Amino acid sequence: MTVVVLGGAGYIGSHTVDRLVSKGYDVAVIDNLITGHRASVNPKARFYQGDIRDRAFLDEVFDQETSIEGIIHFAAFSIVPESMSNPLKYFDNNTGGMITLLKAMKDHDIKRIIFSSTAATYGEPKQIPIKETDPQVPTNPYGESKLAMEKIMHWSDVAYGVKFVALRYFNVAGAKADGSIGEDHHPETHLIPIILQVAAGERDGLKIFGTDYPTKDGTNVRDYVHVVDLADAHILALEYLKDGHDSDAFNLGSSTGFSNKEILEAARKATGQPIPAEDAPRRAGDPSTLIAASDKARKVLGWKPQYDDVEEIIKTAWNWKQTHPKGYNDRGEA
Ligand code: UFG
Repeated sequence: MTVVVLGGAGYIGSHTVDRLVSKGYDVAVIDNLITGHRASVNPKARFYQGDIRDRAFLDEVFDQETSIEGIIHFAAFSIVPESMSNPLKYFDNNTGGMITLLKAMKDHDIKRIIFSSTAATYGEPKQIPIKETDPQVPTNPYGESKLAMEKIMHWSDVAYGVKFVALRYFNVAGAKADGSIGEDHHPETHLIPIILQVAAGERDGLKIFGTDYPTKDGTNVRDYVHVVDLADAHILALEYLKDGHDSDAFNLGSSTGFSNKEILEAARKATGQPIPAEDAPRRAGDPSTLIAASDKARKVLGWKPQYDDVEEIIKTAWNWKQTHPKGYNDRGEA
């Protein structure tokens, strides 16, 4: 039986492929390599380059991979500010891609999908920690595109029996402990990799977006999960559906919040670098605090994250950064 990973050459996808392979699963990867990196894909996985919006391409792969036990779907755009200026790009690739995918799954009798959803589907939370049953009112097209995908999966389950698990991620960070794969975005917009670019001397300093939020030190508070722990949750979710359970949604977070200034301090300790930083205006669309209630994933899926120390998480990202100063170096840049 084969697991097909869509977007398996991306940051979270490549770590999930690696974990699947290490646990003995047979894995095939689909990625269009727009943001993914071919070199990040474990060589034991079969690789198909193509786009999930291309129905003929999907049919070809699903004809070739004859015994697919489930799909894990990471193939989406995920930059919030970009989604604000170019929403149709997000609805086309993310939401549109899901429709094409589910039609192909239905026709090829593939009955399970694990989906990379997001805390951005909740929007500005009314209460902290955020529970899975809380209202989902996105404040940007990225979150809206993913909420629509959750709803489309729900109705496809009702009508065609395609079971799904939606995993709503909070803030993902870190890299595989041996530093062989890691995070490499162009452009980079996330806090921890940007801090590490400053630590490595590639940027002059960190700009802290907003210091007047109603939080402990005025900066935004986020809930960080290590990428390998996140990857393992996908495998548990697949096994959960294989055990015959019904479709469901789970938050994936640590249930602990760190402010941006606390992350900066932890990164100074993890790297031993001074990491200069300056206060800057708020970034549009940033919710003040996002912390997950993640006991459901622990109880129901049996998820046991191995990393509970944000400094340790940062150390794994720093290890990747130091061993791969130019990332995968496959973008033709100097
Ligand atoms: N930040 C800075 N300076 C920077 C970059 C980021 O101060 O140079 C701040 C942001 O303003 C925010 C915090 O660091 O307060 C975290 O920002 P990220 O961009 O790293 O992450 P977000 O919390 O904005 O977004 C992440 C994912 C989204 C997802 C969201 C849901 O990237 O895809 O979590 O929780 F939707």
